[in-house]
Amino acid sequence: MNDWISDRNGTLYAEDVPLTAIAQQFGTPAYVYSRAAIRSAFAEFSQACAGRRVLVCYALKANSNLAVIDLLAREGAGFDIVSGGELQRVLAAGASPSRVVFSGVGKSESEMQMALEHGVRCFNVESETELHRLSRVAQSMGKLAPVSIRVNPDVDAGTHPYISTGLRENKFGISHEHAVSVYREAATLPGLKIVGIDCHIGSQITEIAPFVAALDKLAELVAELASHGIRLAHLDLGGGLGIDYDGEQPPSRKAMLDALFARIDADPTLRELEVMFEFGRSIVGNAGLLLTRVEYLKPTPAKNFAIVDAAMNDLMRPALYEAFHRIVPVAPRAGQPQSYDVVGPVCESGDWLGRDRLLAIEEGDLLAILSAGAYGMAMSSNYNTRPRPPEIMVDGDAMHLIRAREPVESLYDLETRLPG
Ligand code: LLP
Repeated sequence: MNDWISDRNGTLYAEDVPLTAIAQQFGTPAYVYSRAAIRSAFAEFSQACAGRRVLVCYALKANSNLAVIDLLAREGAGFDIVSGGELQRVLAAGASPSRVVFSGVGKSESEMQMALEHGVRCFNVESETELHRLSRVAQSMGKLAPVSIRVNPDVDAGTHPYISTGLRENKFGISHEHAVSVYREAATLPGLKIVGIDCHIGSQITEIAPFVAALDKLAELVAELASHGIRLAHLDLGGGLGIDYDGEQPPSRKAMLDALFARIDADPTLRELEVMFEFGRSIVGNAGLLLTRVEYLKPTPAKNFAIVDAAMNDLMRPALYEAFHRIVPVAPRAGQPQSYDVVGPVCESGDWLGRDRLLAIEEGDLLAILSAGAYGMAMSSNYNTRPRPPEIMVDGDAMHLIRAREPVESLYDLETRLPG
């Protein structure tokens, strides 16, 4: 899972860099990513698509550091964005907007304008009223907006309720039963060009079946649309493939794509379409860790706490989803392990990173919080006026600082005291 992390003579290395050297040079907490791990995850997807017309997009929301975007652009990725800000990041990283799909339920007019200006590949439209707005905006600019309708296939992806998106009761997409009438309406609107169909059923999915079930639902629609004379150029199957955080056994990237391509190949209409994906977590999740130092060990009558210098503001997933991240000492000790709740310095009981972890540690020790490459830094905040950690990308024995630690003053730079 994390084969870029290895134990060499009792100390953990990220690729060929000792984590102790990163802590020494950049301090803690710090996010550490592996260039090789990101590349190889992406390469597994592209190899599974060899010889096919496929655009594997990277869902920027998982980790939007410019170096990550740049690296994936060089590997041939497209990008899935959900805001004008993410489009600006793609541009700032030097990647091409013609490989960008624009998803999201709440695109503003100015975001639409910006995306049309730069010529994104497709808008994944999520409601009828969005369709009308996009038609108006595109028409006023004398442009044709390429659109896909995001269909909500009502498939249970079996994930955490906060990250499941393809159920009827979710806010996402247009229901399967309304999709055809919405497409027919789209076909009558000026300023729009129908190019595809899209779905995304959720995240951290560890089975193949829900993906195939969603594809089946889309296949029905593609056939029905064709019977109404609406022909599509692409099929976007979203992202959502899960990773191993705690022993989960998601299908391999290849097994997942093979299953989908087998289904596509068996259908003469689907076979004609270019296929797109929007993977986030499965590209970067296991390519990152959060490096932190134990500040205090605090035994209490109820529990032992290991208070570390990373907190919920740096990695929100445990507090928000009760998510599990493995926590391992950087230089394992021989002593008797004890059970600890690993918590941060933030003033909230919800500020925990791991519960009941067996660790042999002392104050001052470094810990690595694993599988933190996706939705880690991207969801961080400055709560408690904590500067966000630096991000370091290792590449062999080189370490690149790809985002500096925030200076505290930058956190209130935009604020002013009252006059007088
Ligand atoms: N496409 C769309 C339209 C999405 O909404 C998402 C994720 C993705 C693609 C990428 O999904 P992935 O391949 O990463 O599963 N913060 C949560 C995850 C939220 C996912 C939201 N949408 C977490 O930390 O688990």
